[in-house]
Amino acid sequence: MPTWPAEPTADGRECLAVHDITVGYGTVPIVHGVSLTVSWGTVVSVIGPNGAGKSTLLKALTGRLKPLSGRVLLDGADVTGAAGNELARAGLGYVPQSGDIFAPLTVQDNLEMGAYLLPRRAVAERIDKVLETLPILKPMLKRHAKTLSGGERKLLAIGRCLVLQPKMLILDEPTSNLAPAMAHLILHEHVVSLARSGTAVLLVEQRARDAMEICDWCHVMVAGRVAISSAPEPLLAEQDFGELYLGARASAGDAADKEPADLEPADAADLPGLRHDSRYAGTGGDE
Ligand SMILES: Nc1ncnc2c1ncn2[C@@H]1O[C@H](COP(=O)(O)OP(=O)(O)O)[C@@H](O)[C@H]1O
Ligand SMILES: [Mg+2]
Repeated sequence: MPTWPAEPTADGRECLAVHDITVGYGTVPIVHGVSLTVSWGTVVSVIGPNGAGKSTLLKALTGRLKPLSGRVLLDGADVTGAAGNELARAGLGYVPQSGDIFAPLTVQDNLEMGAYLLPRRAVAERIDKVLETLPILKPMLKRHAKTLSGGERKLLAIGRCLVLQPKMLILDEPTSNLAPAMAHLILHEHVVSLARSGTAVLLVEQRARDAMEICDWCHVMVAGRVAISSAPEPLLAEQDFGELYLGARASAGDAADKEPADLEPADAADLPGLRHDSRYAGTGGDE
């Protein structure tokens, strides 16, 4: 287990390295040859239209799906195809888009369940540390999780992961269905401060503009492939950012507040940046 917070390694190795991952359901590939890396203390975001394969990619990185090909290295160790609990033991935390807490249980019980890999004597101290990081949960310990707001539940889900002091945290659309103020709090405060503490963060977000504002590097996935890999600044500078990179009719900020049915998947050929902008040519996964 790493110390709290996870420390960058002295030689600056990546925390997560994903090489040429192809994964799908059964033998049908959905994600084709995706490569990316996440260095210690940085936020890497993955954006893209609904159905692009973002969640499928995350499932392959977190032991929910076995990759059909490719390799995943966590802190230098090959963890390709490892099960979720092995990955948790190896320092990987994962907050799925839904199903991330036990609604009938109390906040305290949820945090204790997050500590399932720890010796009993270590649990209370670890939960105290999580409550220092997420003080909003402190007065809620005895409440049943189902009585929390959506944002409070998401913070609880993040807290459950932090109990194990992960080196690497993978978040799948942590702000979906949340009000803008709560989304801002989660991304701009909590995700940023986790990264500042040394944790590597891989963030899938529908609020593309917010994700750009806090990330160090961004991958745009379209139709199962990384179409664009870029620092966030040039993407943010694009006019009609949301339309270009999410296939949304509205701006990226608006898109995040709509139901998924309001988002139209984009086709790779519809992304002008892919065809006409040489800055993005051939940049799949090679930061
Ligand atoms: N459990 C599943 N079984 C079969 N196909 C699935 C499953 N989950 C998602 N898919 C398909 O995989 C594709 C990518 O989905 P997903 O990874 O959820 O996209 P995103 O997270 O980018 O919205 C979609 O076409 C979706 O229908
Ligand atoms: Mg998804």
